[in-house]
Amino acid sequence: MMQIDVLSLFPDMFTGVFQSSILKKAADNDLASFHVTDYRDFSLDKHHRVDDYPYGGGAGMVLTAQPLFDAVDHVTAQAKAKPRVILMTPQGERFDHQKAVELSKEEHLIFICGHYEGYDERIREHLVTDELSIGDYVLTGGELPAMVMIDSVVRLLPGVLGNEASPIADSFSNGLLEHPQYTRPADFRGMKVPEVLLSGHHKNIEAWRHKESLRRTFERRPDLLENYPLSEQEKQWIND
Ligand code: ADE
Repeated sequence: MMQIDVLSLFPDMFTGVFQSSILKKAADNDLASFHVTDYRDFSLDKHHRVDDYPYGGGAGMVLTAQPLFDAVDHVTAQAKAKPRVILMTPQGERFDHQKAVELSKEEHLIFICGHYEGYDERIREHLVTDELSIGDYVLTGGELPAMVMIDSVVRLLPGVLGNEASPIADSFSNGLLEHPQYTRPADFRGMKVPEVLLSGHHKNIEAWRHKESLRRTFERRPDLLENYPLSEQEKQWIND
């Protein structure tokens, strides 16, 4: 079972996410366990403060090292596996499918969520193992990025999605966008499902899907093809 700890000043933000849909099912089936810790509870400051003015002056506040170091010590005290300690920050490495796959192989993940402000540099240097960003925009806190990452990691755990094969066919898992999909009826207001999909000819269907997947990736995300070795046949399809 994967153990997931979140350190946040707004633990309530996570209740809906961990108690709904696939993540709830994963927890109910003991495939993942979710625990949220309010690191304000670890502050040794008499007013339970978790931030302070930056040395050298300037605007804004900085999250202090002490509550976060102590909260990490607390959640790792009884843990068997060495955790990945992940800091949510727009300065981090960009999170993507490959990173989700990598994290899905770990036993224990700790997500640290800041809010509004910066982190004392000693947190980055000595507490965390990874700094990750979900994209080039700034959010008010790391809670939403943590939810995004947790959702995409947990759905990859074996047994979490009903059909074991389904995450394998998804966009990005083979480096390409997914092919178009259709369901009944075969003719909706004159808009028809491609003939090949009704043929029952599995080899032709697979070939069509692969071709459409390549075409779609070329049209929408040509950057993904930079790391995808194209065969001569595939190059031909793209240029058709
Ligand atoms: N905290 C604020 N903005 C963020 C982002 N884009 N990614 C991760 N953490 C963040």
